[in-house]
Amino acid sequence: MKEGRKPYIAGNWKMNLDRSRALDLIKTIKGRLGDGNDREVAVFAPSVYLADVSAVAQGSPLGVGAQNLYFEREGAFTGELSGAMLREVGADRVLIGHSERRHLFHEPDDWMARKLRAALDAALLPVLCVGETLDERKGGKTDRVLKRQLETALMDVVAGEIRRLTIAYEPVWAIGTGEVATTEQAGEAHAFVRRWIAQKLGTEAGEAIRILYGGSVKPDNVKALMALDDVDGVLVGGASLKPDTFLPIIEFDT
Ligand code: PGA
Repeated sequence: MKEGRKPYIAGNWKMNLDRSRALDLIKTIKGRLGDGNDREVAVFAPSVYLADVSAVAQGSPLGVGAQNLYFEREGAFTGELSGAMLREVGADRVLIGHSERRHLFHEPDDWMARKLRAALDAALLPVLCVGETLDERKGGKTDRVLKRQLETALMDVVAGEIRRLTIAYEPVWAIGTGEVATTEQAGEAHAFVRRWIAQKLGTEAGEAIRILYGGSVKPDNVKALMALDDVDGVLVGGASLKPDTFLPIIEFDT
């Protein structure tokens, strides 16, 4: 964490909860949220609940996002959702390239640039997820993978757009496994991403971009992660599904 970059705590609900539990959870979070001045909090909800969840969040600083979008504006793309559709039901942000999209649903690297463009054009705030698999880490390829994912996704982004973009570093081997990256591993990967952004889009962009860590974030490890210079927030899966575990993460003290 560093002054000038507001901490960003995000919950990724994935394909979990039902409508009533989602609404209970968002009401609880809203009730506990301060004025949003010292930290930004958002949830990425299943698309079918976005309208209801964002209706509850309205009037609070809570952000509500979708977990995916498609890059075309409209057409014969059965099952897909456009940025405009997501905005219409109250989303103000969207995840792009989550590892489950990349690995379980085989979304190719070269879609990410188009998805980023579509999100920015629809006035959504994108969170681009990057991260290596266990094999890639063991093979010493982490930096190469991050570089490839950043290069392909950010090829159309200009420095002026950087404040609307967030990157989430999520090592695939740490997602849902209970295995969190060590502070050294997270620190190195975050520093690598920030250096890459600075080289590509300028020092100012490198300083401004917020980079979240994701992968088995829990109330008992959030503080150590947030203490790292280049970690500006967390993207939380499993622990974002219950107030007992999500509220202490949101309310971590610095
Ligand atoms: P996890 O998921 O916190 O359950 O590991 C993180 C994510 O996939 O964003």
